[in-house]
Amino acid sequence: MDLLSPLLPPLLLLCLLASLGSSSMLCPKRCTCQNLLPSYTVLCAKTGLLFVPPNIDRQTAELRLMDNFITTLRHRDFANMSSLIHLTLSRNTISQIRPYAFADLQDLHALHLDANRLTTLDDAHFQGLVNLRHLILANNQLHSISEGAFQDFLETLEDLDLSYNNLVEIPWDTVGLLASVNTLSLDHNLIESVPEGIFSNLHKLARLDMTSNKLKKIPPDPLFLRIPVYAKMKGSPLTALVLSFGGNPLHCNCELVWLRRLTREDDLETCASPRDLAGKYFWTIREEEFVCEPPMITRHTSKMFVMEGQEVSLRCKSIGDPEPSTHWVSPDSKLISNTSRTVCYENGSLDILKASVKDSGKFTCIASNAAGEATAPVELVVNPSPHFDPKLDPDPGPSDIPTSIKSNASGGHARSDQQRVSVSDLTSSSATVRWPPQNHIPGVRMYQVQYNSSTDDILIYR
Ligand SMILES: *[C@@H]1O[C@H](CO)[C@@H](O)[C@H](O)[C@H]1NC(C)=O
Ligand SMILES: *[C@@H]1O[C@H](CO)[C@@H](O)[C@H](O)[C@H]1NC(C)=O
Ligand SMILES: *[C@@H]1O[C@H](CO)[C@@H](O)[C@H](O)[C@H]1NC(C)=O
Ligand SMILES: *[C@@H]1O[C@H](CO)[C@@H](O)[C@H](O)[C@H]1NC(C)=O
Ligand SMILES: *[C@@H]1O[C@H](CO)[C@@H](O)[C@H](O)[C@H]1NC(C)=O
Repeated sequence: MDLLSPLLPPLLLLCLLASLGSSSMLCPKRCTCQNLLPSYTVLCAKTGLLFVPPNIDRQTAELRLMDNFITTLRHRDFANMSSLIHLTLSRNTISQIRPYAFADLQDLHALHLDANRLTTLDDAHFQGLVNLRHLILANNQLHSISEGAFQDFLETLEDLDLSYNNLVEIPWDTVGLLASVNTLSLDHNLIESVPEGIFSNLHKLARLDMTSNKLKKIPPDPLFLRIPVYAKMKGSPLTALVLSFGGNPLHCNCELVWLRRLTREDDLETCASPRDLAGKYFWTIREEEFVCEPPMITRHTSKMFVMEGQEVSLRCKSIGDPEPSTHWVSPDSKLISNTSRTVCYENGSLDILKASVKDSGKFTCIASNAAGEATAPVELVVNPSPHFDPKLDPDPGPSDIPTSIKSNASGGHARSDQQRVSVSDLTSSSATVRWPPQNHIPGVRMYQVQYNSSTDDILIYR
């Protein structure tokens, strides 16, 4: 058809094209329509469009609307276009995609939305694109993408281009499910970290571009160990993965040795830290120079006294490269996690919100990183307090009430008929103890509860 165009005036050409169509195809004003059987193509590039023309034939297979001034995509714009294979909306000013705008495009293979003004993508935006293979979102202002945004094409997507956006966070769990993805372009964003193992199921990944982000490290991935990884496209075998990572503030310690071992040509990646490697070319640094420093505990609480029921903070500060993470082990050798009563902070501190006498003993602070670990003992002494009321602050520790107790409204043991004490709501770790008020005895200021613990066979006073 293109051969005809220089020879015929446009109007005549359009009439000719329309008459060639199987039925009378519509062609929007100023657009060019071609019926290259079996597919119908509508070209409306650089035509000054402010919105998607309403009278596009619903049988269109290819629709090119690039270089216009379209701002919003609405559901009716592409309604019923179930034959559309290729949709190009590059270089418009699209800032808004109404929910379900693409819901009828179940055959769409390629969607080009690069160089627009999109800022966020949520679950409804791309719903219905069940056959999408190429999604090009480069050069927008994206800062947020929901985990469900790519839900309908996790299995089919081959090419995802998110380059040149403002993304700090990538929906990594979703990326990890793109089973067919071949090319993943995440370059020129603000990405600070990549979770370990996220690429392990992307068996078809051949090109991963993370150039120019804020990455200090790139974790090794099972995928990188299975197939050869190259730093450059040129000369790499077809079955290899090409990984680009230049332009990141790499912290060149032992965690990056795996990357240094890759096959590559000389590239210009540099290290940003540690200080003695800053500015050096990544590939010129010898493997042995990528070193880590094992943790060293620089300051810690050695012995702490506290009254029962009070809050106590145990400290343990460490240094090392990479930054060590701190864990605490309780006197009964259990790893302490965040609970309603304990908080482990990243700076190494452990807060116990309501100390119990049973917390007393030798805690251990463990600082660990890729290079090793260091430990320090921290002793805590919790003194019983006569002002502490365990009924108001129930002890969440393991049961120390024998479950065989004969207890019921009627079964409670009473010292006398007038003073009936009852135990009810008995579980393996709690019970409600009730006794009548003792108003007739002057001067009662507190009660002491005494019970026999089956776990440690001692009498406990509260
Ligand atoms: C889409 O198809 C439905 C049902 O055939 C029809 O009611 C509706 O008007 C169509 N919408 C457009 C925009 O063609
Ligand atoms: C425990 O909670 C603190 C404060 O909310 C938080 O900073 C820390 O990361 C949490 N630790 C763990 C291991 O989840
Ligand atoms: C550790 O962090 C917590 C929470 O940010 C803070 O309350 C505590 O004072 C810090 N401890 C030290 C030793 O800096
Ligand atoms: C406790 O009382 C309930 C009813 O209040 C009764 O069903 C149950 O058998 C009693 N248990 C004992 C151990 O007496
Ligand atoms: C606690 O109860 C257990 C089992 O009923 C008994 O063997 C033990 O002697 C009791 N200990 C004290 C200190 O009463």
